[in-house]
Amino acid sequence: MVPLKSRHEIELMRKSGRLARRILMEMGKLAREGLTTLDLDRYARRRARDAGATCSFLNYRGYPAAICTALNDVVVHGIPNDVPLKNGDILGIDFATHLNGFVGDTAWTFAIGTVSPEKQHVMRVTEQALYEGIKQAKPGNRMGDISYAIQSYAERHGCSVVRALVGHGVGRKLHEPPPVPNYGEPGTGLKLKVGMTLAIEPMIIFGNDPEVYQLEDGWTVLSRSGQPSAHFEHTVAILSDGPDILTEG
Ligand code: MF3
Ligand code: CO
Ligand code: CO
Repeated sequence: MVPLKSRHEIELMRKSGRLARRILMEMGKLAREGLTTLDLDRYARRRARDAGATCSFLNYRGYPAAICTALNDVVVHGIPNDVPLKNGDILGIDFATHLNGFVGDTAWTFAIGTVSPEKQHVMRVTEQALYEGIKQAKPGNRMGDISYAIQSYAERHGCSVVRALVGHGVGRKLHEPPPVPNYGEPGTGLKLKVGMTLAIEPMIIFGNDPEVYQLEDGWTVLSRSGQPSAHFEHTVAILSDGPDILTEG
């Protein structure tokens, strides 16, 4: 059911993961007041093409762009548009490439200029929650250990974990089994095995309301509370000696 990857396949995934990550961080550098998310989308498409890769989101279930953007109270899956970014925005960008048959899937949230303390807080908490989850991605642990590490870190720091969307296995396809929830109980769920490759991706909202809603466009997911939200994601392989982040380095 859960496709396990060989060492060789993991090295191919790392090539795709590092490319996706490099392009994502370049977009983060470009993102500033006045630029639009469509400008970033065009950049990602060109960089992927020049590197011999394809953009995994484009046409996925009819999705119309190469990146997903998440501005302020948008949690995930915002469609790029021609609205200029403003000082004080936070912008999540999610991007994945197919290269040599394998996907690298990664997301990061960036500050545009000077942002409010609440926005800084939810960004910092979500990034750290991602790494708390990754630490638990080792053989012998269970999925619930990853989930619980993320949830408990977020809730200890005044934030809420989105339930409606989860992380996932990743490999030859963007979305593979198993689901990787950002909430759960330690010691429960699927046993983690060497060769699993997971996209761990906490989506976290400032404050105590985890509920979300979707726009009529069929994609954009927002926080019900209107509070700011952040999203950070890495593609991680489980090796005998622990987690190996394939979208880093
Ligand atoms: N956010 C999803 C992920 O990281 C992928 C979005 S699929 C798209 O797995 F079609 F919305 F792009
Ligand atoms: Co992603
Ligand atoms: Co993902």
